[in-house]
Amino acid sequence: MKRRAFLKSACLASACLLPACKSTVQHANAVVENDKIVIDRTAFNTNSTVTVGYGKYAIGVVKLEANNFAASLLSCPHKGCAVAPAENGFVCPRHGARFDHLGQVIKGPAEQDLTSFDTSSDQQFVIIHLPA
Ligand code: FES
Repeated sequence: MKRRAFLKSACLASACLLPACKSTVQHANAVVENDKIVIDRTAFNTNSTVTVGYGKYAIGVVKLEANNFAASLLSCPHKGCAVAPAENGFVCPRHGARFDHLGQVIKGPAEQDLTSFDTSSDQQFVIIHLPA
């Protein structure tokens, strides 16, 4: 592999691995229980967006209103790169696709929305319901 091709592929690979570094985003500790992920609501005290690990990707959880949360798998539907929280939603660092807080695509090249999960909440926890 020529040096230029190597550097290009290394930059693309590292861009996929860049962690979210916005101060309004927090990686929360969560408990996985069978078909759900449980997050302590205090994680949203100072952050409107929280991420939790889920397999090789993360799930981005956005507090939309007091008891209304949206959860999206942070895997780009274009080529599978890890998507990161960004201002007003999520962005894929590989080719620049953008998604809103609900995970709906607002800029290509991705043509599909992020995979979303149902959520519920009570006074103590936010719950992400995983597919069976
Ligand atoms: S992999 Fe996300 S925009 Fe291409």
